[in-house]
Amino acid sequence: MTKKINHIGIAVKSLEASIPFYRDMMGMEFEGTEEVAEQKVKVAFLVVGESRIELLEPTSEDSPVAKFLEKNGEGVHHMAYQVENLEATLADLKAKGVRLIDEVPRSGAHGSRIAFLHPKATGSVLTELCEAGH
Ligand code: CO
Repeated sequence: MTKKINHIGIAVKSLEASIPFYRDMMGMEFEGTEEVAEQKVKVAFLVVGESRIELLEPTSEDSPVAKFLEKNGEGVHHMAYQVENLEATLADLKAKGVRLIDEVPRSGAHGSRIAFLHPKATGSVLTELCEAGH
């Protein structure tokens, strides 16, 4: 079952250049940065109520986020919904015919487990499901 919007992912060229807007202008609590090697990104989290903004900066030219920036420029990259049991949710969606990018959870920031649905199945909105943490 979908619990809440865990975070909204925003692709940026530079965390350093982007954080001040959210932290200093918008007054969001800055939680720090973390490198997610598996996805070739450095991420920064800013708290908004029970959700977060996740800024994503690519760490390599072959990062999916680098490709996104090339194609679209900076902007909203994905929506992340928190679910109770990621494996069971993925199995359920697969059984319902929803196309998945990840059939098996991968590791996200803060030791969370995440999986992406295919944009073809979600009206072109890249959709992440995550289980715990953020
Ligand atoms: Co995310």
